[in-house]
Amino acid sequence: MNNQVLFKMLEGQNIDNKYYLKKLLGAGGFGGVYLADEVVKDRLIRELAVKLIISEDSEKQLDELIFSTTLNHPNLINCYTCGEYELNNVKFLYLLMEVADSSLEKELIENKLDREKKEKLITDITEAISFLHSQSPPIIHRDLKPANILKVGNKWKLADFGLVRILEQNLTIQNTINITGTIGYSSPESYEGRISRATDIWSLGILIIEISTGKLPFDNENLEQTRNLIINGKILIPQLDYPFNQIARQCLIKDYQNRISAEEILEILKKTKNQPPIYTINQANSNIWLIKINVIISILSFLILIVLSIYTFSFNKSKKKINNLIKNGSFEEGITIDPETKFIGLDTKSQGINDWEIIKDNIDYKENYWQNTDDNRSLDLNGGQAGAISQSFPTKIGERYLVQFDMAGNPDHKQEQIPIRKIIVSTGEQQGHFVFDMRGGKTRENMQWQTFKWKFIAENSMTTLTFSGSLGNTSAYGPTLDNIIVTEISEND
Ligand SMILES: Nc1ncnc2c1ncn2[C@@H]1O[C@H](COP(=O)(O)OP(=O)(O)OP(=O)(O)O)[C@@H](O)[C@H]1O
Ligand SMILES: [Mg+2]
Repeated sequence: MNNQVLFKMLEGQNIDNKYYLKKLLGAGGFGGVYLADEVVKDRLIRELAVKLIISEDSEKQLDELIFSTTLNHPNLINCYTCGEYELNNVKFLYLLMEVADSSLEKELIENKLDREKKEKLITDITEAISFLHSQSPPIIHRDLKPANILKVGNKWKLADFGLVRILEQNLTIQNTINITGTIGYSSPESYEGRISRATDIWSLGILIIEISTGKLPFDNENLEQTRNLIINGKILIPQLDYPFNQIARQCLIKDYQNRISAEEILEILKKTKNQPPIYTINQANSNIWLIKINVIISILSFLILIVLSIYTFSFNKSKKKINNLIKNGSFEEGITIDPETKFIGLDTKSQGINDWEIIKDNIDYKENYWQNTDDNRSLDLNGGQAGAISQSFPTKIGERYLVQFDMAGNPDHKQEQIPIRKIIVSTGEQQGHFVFDMRGGKTRENMQWQTFKWKFIAENSMTTLTFSGSLGNTSAYGPTLDNIIVTEISEND
């Protein structure tokens, strides 16, 4: 008899003359969950959810179940109490819980999650996992999946925490859930019986992909093929919105010892939530004031000093580039970068670098990773594929502008194989192509940066300047970019 039929038959029964099983909400690997009324002497106390679990070794299992009801966290389903009971000559453990309004399983079918909701959901669930993992000894959920992620009010809560440990003592029961959890969410090492906090982190990575794309990262594989893909660590991670791409990649590392922790995921989520907006009114105002002051000083100065200062402001690389039309041209202001890896991959639409928009695929934002021409930070324009960045600024139609930038190449790749790195600089129709030759011993310590210049004529009152890594580059070792300066120039320059 399958579980669904067995548990359906118990509708209408009661437990301890107190909990009336009204409706089966669903049945999983080891139990069924009912909507129930708590009734004392004909008086309805409240509605609750009752989970019935077929029990084989009830003493030990009951102890574990009692322990799980002592755990309290805003992102864990509230468990009131538990016990054991016999129904139709079958021994059950029961768990009384708060009733959830919905589950992730349902919401994914109805496709109701916008970006903000996804962010909240991933944060809530990671909070719950972090709490379970911080217990001593740590509690490993082992069965993270949409049916075990429930919604109560505006909070997402985890259900069935620690239950797999209790249930694996029911050795005779077979289902899609085995000691590793539900196939599809199981980690590679759990197939060898190795269970740790990293087991849940892997499942969380799969969940992040499912939440972001609406489907699991497997196509039409059957269970056996899915299992093989997992065991060999061959999960294809699709392009996800920032920062979920980075998080999913670090959750789905095959070697479980190198996976990110729940705590670290929460840190990333916290940082990206507090990203400053791209433009602020104060910044714009302060630029106007700088220009005004500059005009006053210029009028009062000797002619020779004016000529000298124009030359200095236009071409030297000091921070006094008051006529540089580009903001954050040397990329020093942006997201906090992991001090260990010294870089972070940023995807399309991410706002990780102040004032710049990432408009194509992904780039790597590097800090101190290699020698730089100016302060710490620079870009590799090919994060995983050829990426592109852009920034818009006011221009005067018909006027000429000079774009100056430093370029080198990511030297981590065998330089003889693909010796050329390319950048395309463009403002709509006008384009400049620049190449950097990797041959000749370029290293991280000696990048051999070169300064390039390109001119364009403004066609609009706002110009969008774009720097693209070329498809001719290798997928992950692209051209590097730093110190972009754009200045208005005269007709003769
Ligand atoms: N407290 C609850 N309130 C409302 N619905 C719940 C509650 N707990 C579980 N459910 C829902 O009841 C159904 C059955 O849950 P159950 O835990 O028995 O199976 P499952 O989660 O599908 O699989 P597994 O046995 O692996 O956990 C699921 O759809 C689940 O989302
Ligand atoms: Mg469940």
